[in-house]
Amino acid sequence: MDRLSVDHLTGIKELTKNDIEIIFKTADAFKEVINRPIKKVPSLRDITIANLFFENSTRTRLSFELAEKRLSADVVNFSAASSSVKKGETLIDTVNNILSMKVDMVVMRHASPGAAKFLAERIDAKVINAGDGTHEHPTQALLDAFSIRERLGKVEGKKVVIVGDILHSRVALSNIYCLQKLGAEVMVCGPTTLIPKYIHELGVKVEHDLVKALEWCDVANMLRIQLERQDIKYFPSIREYSMQYGLTKEILDNLSKKIVIMHPGPINRGVEITSEVADSDQAIILNQVENGVAVRMAVIYLLASKINRD
Ligand code: CP
Repeated sequence: MDRLSVDHLTGIKELTKNDIEIIFKTADAFKEVINRPIKKVPSLRDITIANLFFENSTRTRLSFELAEKRLSADVVNFSAASSSVKKGETLIDTVNNILSMKVDMVVMRHASPGAAKFLAERIDAKVINAGDGTHEHPTQALLDAFSIRERLGKVEGKKVVIVGDILHSRVALSNIYCLQKLGAEVMVCGPTTLIPKYIHELGVKVEHDLVKALEWCDVANMLRIQLERQDIKYFPSIREYSMQYGLTKEILDNLSKKIVIMHPGPINRGVEITSEVADSDQAIILNQVENGVAVRMAVIYLLASKINRD
């Protein structure tokens, strides 16, 4: 069996191109499984997984839970809002208490960059990062690249522009690492204030004009403005942002070619993308969500194969 070079998935930065290809090959098989009348396999019948969500989530949380259940794992769910974290318990105490209940794998979303790595270095269970602050969201990048491969046949040689709030986006950073490892060219587009100063060190192109960026690309990944992570104002108003960087049907129809539109969700309809574009046949937003289950099944399955069961 193909084996990953890592014992945890804390970020795409730590993966090799071969790791990503192994995950995609495994996800291809699981995609076939989840489209069968009986969508479940018994692969992880003796494995227990804890989903620890210290930050809000809809897609990622449901997708992981479904992936775990499709693999027949036992699943426990934890949400910070209704937990003893509210009484002052630390992250490591919370996790150690959960692990004493014999949990083999932890899927964690946390507001602090580096939280998943911190955990992976301190506990025996396998750790999957479901988003750590503004740092990385590795399974989102894997499902995004998997969806590009599905729609365009391959990722290598494709031009992908990531539009919007790059500064606060873990999706952007993980996508940049993942797409580059697979041989795609990456551009970021947005107002100067939402592009990090270190961006050139990542080897990506920068464009501030949305139409020029869209003319360049094969795929546009439209990001949400992360108001919850913004402590100061980065642009005059949402309306002004939308006028400069919002993707409308008119802009799309006036391009010289047909491009693929992606969005990691949650969508703010009418801000970064109009409903007409989000629901058009050029958008693969719901394919991304569907592929998320197969990709997460693959990641969980491959990491579970590294659990010492003696
Ligand atoms: N794409 C994504 O991470 O969505 P959620 O915040 O709903 O999990």
